[in-house]
Amino acid sequence: MQVQYSWAHFQMLKSPTSTSFFTFSKHSQKGSDSSSRRTHRRINNNYPSFMATISTQNVPVSSSHDDGSTQITHQPLQVTSLHILFLGLNTCPFYSIEVVFEAAIQAIKDEKNQYAPGYGVPDFNEAIAARFKKDTGLVIDPKKEITVTSGCTEAIAATMLGLINPGDEVILFAPFYDSYETTLSMAGAEIKCITWRPTDFSVPLEELKSTISKNTLVILINTPHNPTGKMFTRDELGAIASPCIENDVLVFTDEVYDKLAFDMDHISMASLPGMYERTETMNSSLTGWKIGWAIAPPHLTWGVRQAHSFLTFATSTPMQWAAMVALRTPDSYFDELKRDYMVKKEILVEGLKDVGFEVFPSRGTYFVLVDHTPFGLENDISFCEYLIKEVGVVAIPTSVFYLNPEDGKSLVRFTFCKDEESLRCAVERMKEKLKKK
Ligand SMILES: Cc1ncc(COP(=O)(O)O)c(C=O)c1O
Repeated sequence: MQVQYSWAHFQMLKSPTSTSFFTFSKHSQKGSDSSSRRTHRRINNNYPSFMATISTQNVPVSSSHDDGSTQITHQPLQVTSLHILFLGLNTCPFYSIEVVFEAAIQAIKDEKNQYAPGYGVPDFNEAIAARFKKDTGLVIDPKKEITVTSGCTEAIAATMLGLINPGDEVILFAPFYDSYETTLSMAGAEIKCITWRPTDFSVPLEELKSTISKNTLVILINTPHNPTGKMFTRDELGAIASPCIENDVLVFTDEVYDKLAFDMDHISMASLPGMYERTETMNSSLTGWKIGWAIAPPHLTWGVRQAHSFLTFATSTPMQWAAMVALRTPDSYFDELKRDYMVKKEILVEGLKDVGFEVFPSRGTYFVLVDHTPFGLENDISFCEYLIKEVGVVAIPTSVFYLNPEDGKSLVRFTFCKDEESLRCAVERMKEKLKKK
């Protein structure tokens, strides 16, 4: 059976000397320490392929090479006859609403199928501007300040490639969504990483103060946050905004989960006084449909569009028409969605506690982090491997979300954007099979 599940690359837990890296030839590699390093791109088989497609019959096995590197290949994995329950990736039922499907079909029937303008279908840009105004109070120019991209993923790539020059210093908070490190690496950025710690994953403000300087070009944030479920409070955003204004630093903010804010209201960095002109906001609609956008003042939008022109040039025309309908969905839809997710969250969180995990608070997104160490497995990878093979449940090892994978080895991410029966069944299986050591 072919299944898709997320997998951190096993190489990450090995010593750096056994890991093969290459750097882009035009950027020389600087000396590095654990908190600051010019990013490298890992060769394919070592890259944290976050959505590796493997067979349930396969388990990664390493073999050593003469040069000291280690190659990961997939060998038979005995998963028995368990029906695997996926609490790993976010396959979410967002916008499973007929009206959006109809809009996509109608757009195709209406032959809205030619290249859209590079910055987006004008009506869609207007819908994005209207939603941004509703959410933040900010009035923006849909033609000059919005770039429609192929998902937030492309917004991230276009932002990094279009606005960051080799050697520019970027502050990143770990854990982080894995495409940030990769795209920063492609841009040749110098990453200064600040690591959040359980249980609250708060921003260590003193460390931030001592890290930020006139040399900093950008701080990258994500709220609500993958994988922790953390949401930045107004105080935290303010504490980031002040030194940014003082030191003329930009903020790139990934807000794809803004409609999944459970315990508090989502606050956009761009809405803080003095921040819009130095902020780029990335978002997307319709999970899985890959329709995203970047919002920024014209001088930043210019850079994003330079990269976007050569990454994809334009985004699927009929799907922009469909996403426009999704953006105009009444608030009642999101209220209902949240109510539904709160129920699922309760089932998973309480269930995981009953299983014996330490569960960290998640205020937004559909992700929950737990500490797996009570069950005595060596690290997050071996725990997730055990969970698949012996329990039939997929979770995500979190070392992939860290610059230093060791920082994530006690943590595992579950998601609750699944049907209630699967969540209950996964909890029951874990209760039955996982024993505290
Ligand atoms: C934090 C974060 N940003 C961006 C993305 C990618 O969004 P899209 O599917 O719109 O490309 C994801 C998807 O998991 C995510 O978790």
